Amino acid sequence: MTLTEETTPAAGGPARTPILEARSLVKTFGRVVGLDGVSLELYPGEVLAVIGDNGAGKSTLIKCLTGAEIPDEGSIFLDGKPVSFKRPQDARAAGIETVYQNLAVSPALDVASNLYLGREVRKAGILGALFRVMDTKGMRQSARAELNELGISTLQDVTVPVENLSGGQRQAVAVARAAAFGSKVVVLDEPTAALGVRESNQVLQLVRNLRDKGIPVILISHNMPHVFDVADRIHIQRLGKRAATITPQSHSMTDAVAIMTGAATA
Ligand SMILES: Nc1ncnc2c1ncn2[C@@H]1O[C@H](COP(=O)(O)OP(=O)(O)O)[C@@H](O)[C@H]1O
Ligand SMILES: [Mg+2]
Repeated sequence: MTLTEETTPAAGGPARTPILEARSLVKTFGRVVGLDGVSLELYPGEVLAVIGDNGAGKSTLIKCLTGAEIPDEGSIFLDGKPVSFKRPQDARAAGIETVYQNLAVSPALDVASNLYLGREVRKAGILGALFRVMDTKGMRQSARAELNELGISTLQDVTVPVENLSGGQRQAVAVARAAAFGSKVVVLDEPTAALGVRESNQVLQLVRNLRDKGIPVILISHNMPHVFDVADRIHIQRLGKRAATITPQSHSMTDAVAIMTGAATA
C-alpha cells in the first residue's frame, strides 16, 4: 500500500487548488477530542468519500466544513480564500450545500416546492435570474429541467407531494435541491443508508452526475462497496485524525477497513 496523502488527486495532472480545503482543524467537546488536527482537500471534479468508524470524527469534520460547528483551531479555505462559517447559512450562502442524514425535505409539499424551499433568501443564481416573479408554473418547469439535467428520470411529476415518494426519490429531491441554484460543493451524509439496492444505485448515479456537471461531492458513507464504486478519493478518519487519503485504485476495500480500524497504516 502506498501513502497518497501528499500526492495530487486522481486526475494526475498538475497540482490544483482545492475548491474546499481544511487545514489542521481541532474541535474538542469538553475533554473529548472530536478532531485532532485534521486536514482535508476536495478538488474540482471529484467525489471525495469520508469514511471511518463510529466516533472517528466524520460528522464533526463535516459540521466544521458546513458551518454547523465552529472549529477551535485550524483554517478552512473555499476557492483558496479563507472562510469562517459561524452558522450553516454562512456555508450555504458561500455555495456549500449539505444533505443531512435526516432529510430536510417537507413531506407535505410537492417536489417542485421542495426544490425551491428556503430559496427566497438567495436572490443570486438561477432562481434570481430566471424567476424574479415566483410563479408555480415556472417553478415546476424549472424543477423538471433541473431533475432532467441531473438525470433523475424517476421523478417526472413534480406536483406529487414528497410524502408519496419512495425513500430513494426523496433522497433524489434532497440532492437535486442541494445541487440546484449554483452551488459549488455538495456534501451528502450517508445518502444510501436507508435505501435498497436499486434506489442506492440511482443515488450513486446521481452523485456521478453531480460530479460530471461540475459540482464536486463529499460523500460520508459506511458502505464500502458504494464508496469504492463512486469515490475518486477516500479520506479515512480514525480517532479524530486523518489516517490516510487513498484511492480505489491504490487500495482495496480490505485495505481501507484495515486503515480505518488501525490494523494497518496506509
Ligand atoms: N456535541 C458533542 N458533544 C460531545 N461530544 C461530541 C459531540 N459531537 C461529537 N462528539 C464526540 O466527538 C467524537 C467524534 O464524533 P463524530 O464526529 O460524531 O464521529 P463520527 O461521525 O465519525 O461517528 C466522538 O467521541 C463523539 O462522541
Ligand atoms: Mg457521524
